[in-house]
Amino acid sequence: MSSVDSVLSAPQRAAFDWLLSRHSAWPLLAPAPSQAELDLVFDTALRAPDHGRLMPWRFVVIREAQREALGEVFAAAAQAREPGNDGERFRQKAFGAPLAIALGAHVEPGHKVPEIEQMMSVAAAAMNMLDALHILGYGGFWSSGMNARDEQVKSALGFGEHERLLGFLYVGTPRAEQRQPERPARQDFVREWGGLARGA
Ligand SMILES: Cc1cc2nc3c(=O)[nH]c(=O)nc-3n(C[C@H](O)[C@H](O)[C@H](O)COP(=O)(O)O)c2cc1C
Repeated sequence: MSSVDSVLSAPQRAAFDWLLSRHSAWPLLAPAPSQAELDLVFDTALRAPDHGRLMPWRFVVIREAQREALGEVFAAAAQAREPGNDGERFRQKAFGAPLAIALGAHVEPGHKVPEIEQMMSVAAAAMNMLDALHILGYGGFWSSGMNARDEQVKSALGFGEHERLLGFLYVGTPRAEQRQPERPARQDFVREWGGLARGA
């Protein structure tokens, strides 16, 4: 038993085991979460920290029946960016999961809360959603790439002038044979600040 286990209750240990075992999976298969499960996932998104209570989160659910249309949007955008490109590589992305969630941020320009903080709240919401999906036994993959940076894609999804498209969460069931990725050692990323050096 590690030293931290002696202070954790069984539900706490179980919660950490879940959090620590999340990883991204691609491609994702059917089934996708049910509506009741998705509702739970979105509720966790709306618990994200939100400076100024601006509530910048805007999510667009793209179901399996719309995958072809999404693929068409991706392909057409790629063709417009680069005439001669058939856009197939981008079209295929839409078929990698039975459900996709477009991650939008409604950004208030000129607000005292900087735009980056408004977008970070959507990123925090996305992380909550990935964890929630994992708890439910589903997998997720957060993807941006050119699909997310394209104005044509953004407007096809119905996002407006003050909204940014930050990417897509692809959602579904991971393949059975998932391997845990190796994770880096915490000590390489965490240090203590020793205060201000005296007499410097
Ligand atoms: C904002 C954001 C955008 C991302 N976009 C892509 C992407 O377009 N393509 C990709 O292969 N991975 C992308 N990733 C990385 C994957 O979502 C994933 O984090 C990575 O494969 C590592 O897997 P892990 O979540 O198990 O650590 C993105 C991650 C973030 C946070």
